[in-house]
Amino acid sequence: MLDNTNKTLSQGPASSTHASEPEQVSPTPVSPTPVSPTHVSAPSATAPVVPVSKAQVAPPDRLTTLRVLCFGDLIGIAGCTAFQKHAMRLKREYDAQLIIVNGENAAPNGRGITSKTVASLRHCGANIITGGNHSFDQRDSYPLLEEKGTLLRPANFPNACPGTGVGLFTLGSLKIGVINVQGRVYMRQDIDCPFKLADSALTYLQSQTNIIIVDMHAEASSEKIGLGYHLDGRVSLVFGTHTHVQTADERILPKGTGFITDIGMAGSLNGMIGMKKETVMAQLLTQMPVKFETDTEPPFIITGIVADIDTVTGKAIKVERFVVIDE
Ligand SMILES: [Fe+2]
Ligand SMILES: [Fe+2]
Repeated sequence: MLDNTNKTLSQGPASSTHASEPEQVSPTPVSPTPVSPTHVSAPSATAPVVPVSKAQVAPPDRLTTLRVLCFGDLIGIAGCTAFQKHAMRLKREYDAQLIIVNGENAAPNGRGITSKTVASLRHCGANIITGGNHSFDQRDSYPLLEEKGTLLRPANFPNACPGTGVGLFTLGSLKIGVINVQGRVYMRQDIDCPFKLADSALTYLQSQTNIIIVDMHAEASSEKIGLGYHLDGRVSLVFGTHTHVQTADERILPKGTGFITDIGMAGSLNGMIGMKKETVMAQLLTQMPVKFETDTEPPFIITGIVADIDTVTGKAIKVERFVVIDE
């Protein structure tokens, strides 16, 4: 159930692994972009060792647990505004070290992401921005994708597409691998197999770190659950995006990978997955072409997960959902 206040709700089942209250505020100063990227366009076991940047604000060097906040698809102005308002607060309250957000709908019209939006999200705490089927909707973002920095797109698109979907990042003394792939079931794009792509990416990432996080951007729950099992024990966390609806199946898989089918979205609560319901309903009722518009009306909803990862083993310790309603 959703609360009508601006507080974070713990929605997981009763368990000792679910914190009933957010963590205390961290005294550690926070840099807007403490993560520095190093990417591999073609995963290879011979890729160079990644130097650890000295320019970052780091968690304690001997951090034994990495706490990461993952936000679902930000939808247009409403989603970005909600993220900007709450992301750093949540990071402080959870005492998290890393924020990953899916930005495939972050542009004002809900399609793709613009360079201006990327800058704004980074300024408000987004360390890594993942993508999806809308990653190429804004040409303005292509130069940023080509930088192969902290803006990712699904890795299983053709290599000719701008950007990459596999990254190795440093956070203090930690190395963190991130894989962004897109599913193929009920998706329009004719792209490579996300399972095999992830296998290929792991041949490199596993030589560098055991902390590996995967954003599986897909429509079908079964395909996302399938990737979770496929990668169980080989990555730290697999979370799904794209449907804009948070699922309630967060858990630790048998071999230690944290998993949730979909982490949801940030956008207008009373729209339809972030769009004005009138436009979506018109299409559903008439089957005529209708131009969807993002909904910008409050209240807003922001959903995602907080996940704890053992930095020594790379296994997930906890996966917990959060839901914020902003009136
Ligand atoms: Fe999508
Ligand atoms: Fe989306």
